[in-house]
Amino acid sequence: MSLDLESIFYDEENIPAEFALEEQVDQREFLSNGEMLTWQGQISEVFSPICVRTKDGLQRKRIGSYPVCTEKESMEALEAAVKAYDNGRGAWPTMSVADRIKCVEDFTHKMIEKKDIVVKLIMWEIGKSFSDSVKEFDRTVEYIYATIDALKDLDRDSSRFQIEQGIIAQIRRSPLGVVLCMGPFNYPLNETFTTLIPALIMGNTLLFKPPKHGTLLHYPLLEAFRTSFPKGVVNTIYGRGNAIVPSLMQSGKINVLTLIGSSRVADELKKLHPKVNRLRAILGLDAKNAAIINKDADLDLAVSETVLGSLSFNGQRCTALKIIYVHRSIAQEFLKRLSAEVSKLKYGMPWEKGVTLTPLPEPNKPAYLTECIEDARKYGAKVVNENGGQVQESFVYPAIVYPVNSQMKLYREEQFGPVIPVVPFDDLEEPIEYLIGSSHGQQVSIFSKSASVISSLIDPLVNQVSRVNINCQCQRGPDTFPFTGRKDSAEGTLSVVDAIRSFSIRSLVAAKFTEDNKELLNDIVSSHTSNFLSTKFIF
Ligand code: G3H
Repeated sequence: MSLDLESIFYDEENIPAEFALEEQVDQREFLSNGEMLTWQGQISEVFSPICVRTKDGLQRKRIGSYPVCTEKESMEALEAAVKAYDNGRGAWPTMSVADRIKCVEDFTHKMIEKKDIVVKLIMWEIGKSFSDSVKEFDRTVEYIYATIDALKDLDRDSSRFQIEQGIIAQIRRSPLGVVLCMGPFNYPLNETFTTLIPALIMGNTLLFKPPKHGTLLHYPLLEAFRTSFPKGVVNTIYGRGNAIVPSLMQSGKINVLTLIGSSRVADELKKLHPKVNRLRAILGLDAKNAAIINKDADLDLAVSETVLGSLSFNGQRCTALKIIYVHRSIAQEFLKRLSAEVSKLKYGMPWEKGVTLTPLPEPNKPAYLTECIEDARKYGAKVVNENGGQVQESFVYPAIVYPVNSQMKLYREEQFGPVIPVVPFDDLEEPIEYLIGSSHGQQVSIFSKSASVISSLIDPLVNQVSRVNINCQCQRGPDTFPFTGRKDSAEGTLSVVDAIRSFSIRSLVAAKFTEDNKELLNDIVSSHTSNFLSTKFIF
């Protein structure tokens, strides 16, 4: 019997008041060159993945609108960022680390004041459960404070002179220039800020384009950006990416491209830069993380981690498990237990307590997932769980698809949604070969109780991906661990410490260790006339 999925949606008047948006957010301003500019041109309306029941059927709820600016505004924002950087001579890139930290702390206090509305907008814009939206906000604030602490440590280490082979030097990290920062829809606040904040705190100036789904939630923070940083340091750009971003890249004035998104877009953008050696790219891209479940695995554990790994936030995580290899001898039992666990997951509206499965923000996603399932059926697979793949507007009930093979889209495409492709294997070489042939290389999860099996997988797999998870799902955290990937999955490394390095470069001031130079350097340090050459400590 099929599920009555229409009933998961509410009538407008039954939406609990504490979770409802008090009013629609019709954004007509954007931050550029230190000013909130009013926009009178074209706008894009924002419809939530959360539908409401109306007399005409289910309708995505309208929650607001935002400006669709043009190339003109984005080029003006670029000029503002270039001017604020001023070839590294601007107030921000030359400011002392202690003072930059004060500005970021000031911003964070103001951001925390906006927590309620930002969390609600995360929930309404992308359909993330309320509790996960709160977690996303809190994790972001923790990330900012951890970044500040890491920078203080780094600065303390750099607050001394080194003497080597008769040369005295002070080595510090310096900014790179103008950063174009674009975040993803699935962690629109957190992942955007894990690049934006390190880029900012290291003294770069920014052009920030909010994600297409997850734009409005940044609006309440624009005033905090405006009042916490010098003019032109943070500039926002709104509009269709393909209309406004190419000319920014072609200008040659972008020094760092940081994008959490698709490898196709990153590829195209990088190629547009006229001086590719001057462009640094910090990228978090596609992934198709596999789980490899050996015949001696703890099956209950493998099942529960597969559920978490493939269905947390409806499978819309770059780190999600997107293909499951299971030894043929245990495949049927695995599928039975996996189907049973999936059927226990609560589905419904994001504000409901304990809800796991919620509506999807990308309007085309239900059709795409249906197409993937149909394609798998065509090549011999079945949906093995009851009601798997059932769709109602923006909601897709999870589908476990088996047996998946190399002819199917689900074998190679990143589905980024609640579909779990399962591939049976006879020999561990098969999943290893899959990973070798894959164009992605982020993480893998391996399941076995045997030390010899696990160790036989570790050595080949650490050279295919960047993190091997033993008997647990793939994930980014803890945020102090390096987060990166091979092949088309990433460029550069993000973690609290790595990110501040990624958005900066070492510069050193060096002199021959002579009496005259000692006196000169002492003079500069004691008169506090340089922010770079300084032995001041930040506590
Ligand atoms: O979308 C990719 C995120 O970085 C995943 O982070 O593993 O903490 O959910 P997570």
